[in-house]
Amino acid sequence: MLPSDHLTRKNFLTHASLATGAAAIAVAGLDPLAALAQDPPTCPPLPTGGTAFVPGQDTRPIVLRKAISALSASELTTLQGAFKALRDTPEAHVQSWKQQADLHALYCRQCTGVATQIHFSWSFFPWHRAYLYYLERILGSLVGDLENFRLPYWDWEDDAHLPGAYRTPNSTANSLWDASRNPGLAGGGLLETIDSDPPLSARVPFLYTIYDFATFGGQAGVMGSCESDPHGDVHTATGLTPPPYRDMGNLGYAAGDPIFFSHHANIDKIWSRWNKQAGTSSGAPPGSYQNPASPAFTNARWSFYDENGNTVSISANDVLDHENNLRYTYEPLRFVVQPLWEIYVCKLLRYPPDPGPLLPITEVERNGIFEALGRGSPVALVLQGVSVPEDVSGSFEIAAIRSDQRIALGTLTIVPGGMTMGAREANLAFDVTRVARELLASATPARLEVFRVTGKEVARAPAYKLIIQHAEFRTRRAAQSDASG
Ligand code: C2O
Repeated sequence: MLPSDHLTRKNFLTHASLATGAAAIAVAGLDPLAALAQDPPTCPPLPTGGTAFVPGQDTRPIVLRKAISALSASELTTLQGAFKALRDTPEAHVQSWKQQADLHALYCRQCTGVATQIHFSWSFFPWHRAYLYYLERILGSLVGDLENFRLPYWDWEDDAHLPGAYRTPNSTANSLWDASRNPGLAGGGLLETIDSDPPLSARVPFLYTIYDFATFGGQAGVMGSCESDPHGDVHTATGLTPPPYRDMGNLGYAAGDPIFFSHHANIDKIWSRWNKQAGTSSGAPPGSYQNPASPAFTNARWSFYDENGNTVSISANDVLDHENNLRYTYEPLRFVVQPLWEIYVCKLLRYPPDPGPLLPITEVERNGIFEALGRGSPVALVLQGVSVPEDVSGSFEIAAIRSDQRIALGTLTIVPGGMTMGAREANLAFDVTRVARELLASATPARLEVFRVTGKEVARAPAYKLIIQHAEFRTRRAAQSDASG
């Protein structure tokens, strides 16, 4: 069930009854990457307990985290020196490269005997922020500059190449290099993200228009839109494509590639900038752009190791104010975000013999969306409670099928892992501005289906039976109603 306090709108209850049984769906005839199930990394034990972080304990200056491309030559040298020193730290130390990389695997059920999972959930953002914070401290202390060393971010939305320092020289002489990467990207090409998606440069600004955390960042046990794409899509496009998808393409090994930390610094930047839209005069409803207030979100606590090798623990609540508590900042967004918040709910009917979710909409609502299109408003399709069956991972296209047409809406990406993963759910948001007229043409309602994408190939047959708990279209509110309040 979706906790309704994080869903913003009116018609949720109408559709809640459709949710029954969604989580239990099991599907035959898949290629669930079963071969991976025998491939867990060998991990040290999960840290537990430790000294609790106290806000205010970190009194270092608040330092800007920069884009990799904005680093000076000497800053790049320091970064390379830090990763070199990390790699040179003996493996027995908890601050070593191997043990730090395995921490990630430990927290995503990729190690034998461990059951934690901080992906596919609202813990995704705060856990990775905490993980980066402690690794940043370890790297900083290794180069003798704990005060000022900050991780740079890989801003693939501005430049989708792998930054040069991470690929040349392309050998172990380069501490930022990794052998298991997509050859095109490693050779200086662009990230080969999924074709049916808009480019990363458009996807990130679109994400900022999604003002509710549930859709943007997920719920308890539900993956948010950002975690699927761009986060997951960039992972799989960076790693090696054939199974076992190492390194970035496999949750168990992803943090073994130094680019992981800059990929996640960028995700962290996007979350930070998203939060900063709260309270701007954008006209979004109250509570927009805010993190969940639920104690189940804020009280989640995890253990890590600090730069002295001590076990420490930190809560989600401790990391929310990264400037004051974790002592780093990002440059603000350079454009004004206009949230999409006029909502039109789809009926999401399911008829026997179960053709999949349908998107019929009333005439009044259809006209509202067409009017919005007419005044140049973008249109988003938000799908909440999209089921992902057990052990399914990889990249999928969600497409609308009408009698004579197949309309690609966007992708769902579940980063593969080595171990069994249970059934999961996702909340997704797609920019459907360019296909809204076809999608909503009155003759036949569109049916949504999910297709596996392998490399550039989209499968012809649906990957699994798609179950969605709630669907709605969002457009920008008309200027006249803005003025009248
Ligand atoms: Cu913990 Cu990008 O995955």
